[in-house]
Amino acid sequence: MKAPVRVAVTGAAGQIGYALLFRIAAGDMLGPDQPVILHLLEITPALPALQGVVMELNDCAFPTLAGVVATDDANVAFKDVDYALLVGSRPRGPGMERKDLLEANGAIFAPQGKALNDHAKRDVRVLVVGNPANTNALIAQQNAPDLDPKCFTAMVRLDHNRALSQLAEKTGAHTAEIKKVTIWGNHSSTQYPDLHQASVKGKPALEQVDQTWYADTFIPTVQQRGAAIIKARGASSAASAASAAIDHMRDWALGTAEGDWTSMAVPSDGSYGIEPGVIFGYPVTVKDGKYAIVQGLAINAFSQARIDATDKELREERAGVEHLFAK
Ligand code: NAI
Repeated sequence: MKAPVRVAVTGAAGQIGYALLFRIAAGDMLGPDQPVILHLLEITPALPALQGVVMELNDCAFPTLAGVVATDDANVAFKDVDYALLVGSRPRGPGMERKDLLEANGAIFAPQGKALNDHAKRDVRVLVVGNPANTNALIAQQNAPDLDPKCFTAMVRLDHNRALSQLAEKTGAHTAEIKKVTIWGNHSSTQYPDLHQASVKGKPALEQVDQTWYADTFIPTVQQRGAAIIKARGASSAASAASAAIDHMRDWALGTAEGDWTSMAVPSDGSYGIEPGVIFGYPVTVKDGKYAIVQGLAINAFSQARIDATDKELREERAGVEHLFAK
């Protein structure tokens, strides 16, 4: 067994938290030989519920769970952490204006960014799940000036996995036989699920489905899948979101498969004409714990228009939160 690493999870008593913590503790994220110490952050009123979750974690007697810290203090939650999954956020409520949503999340992600800056390991890997995920990640990043900006990422992996599942269903293949799907841009309905480089059983995906299905069914289905789950379940995606968060962190820690890539929202470095300054969904590969944006892909006019639309939305979100950035 290796030495334990510290993994922070915020919103730990929420529904994604409940689907996530047990899998991290069981070794699904970092492997069966990597013990973890969980650092769980909640708001004060949720601490009793969180205590119940801690009791259940202990009752699982996981060989890979080396300890649990449960707190309502971000400075304690992020102390020396190697990984941070920021799940707790303020989703849009009825009648809530966009400005109110961004303000409410600023009040969460600015102090959490500062606490990470002050207390986390210098190579901490941060994944923001709480919506609006890309812009919440940007707020946290901009309040952590002493950390490498590349420490901050947001989750588009659920969208990526949803794209795999839709394409598998359509072609009769297994998701494991599909490679090189990309989610560009924002984790919102402007995201662009791109199949131009994708293959199914080694052959180009777009030669196996017709363009009308791709444009008029596949893209909107992936974009609207979150809403469809809410309609069916009466609650937002939780187990699939937790599973995607584990996939994102596992690939970041242990690497992507040879001959494939994944989708992660990472700080733009100017690739594909996206100006630096937003957290943008890109095709990425990971090697030796470092991610790299896949370069040199041909982008046709169909794709470019959709990449531009999601870029525009992220820039507008950024303009709405710039006052929350540390000076
Ligand atoms: P939930 O409401 O069940 O749980 C959220 C938890 O966060 C609550 O227990 C709440 O007390 C806690 N919380 C709120 N403010 C906090 C703070 N400042 N510090 C620590 N904890 C705090 O929500 P659920 O279903 O677990 O979803 C969490 C977030 O994930 C939502 O914003 C949701 O929209 C988002 N989400 C993102 C997805 C993605 O693909 N990026 C997919 C699905 C959900």
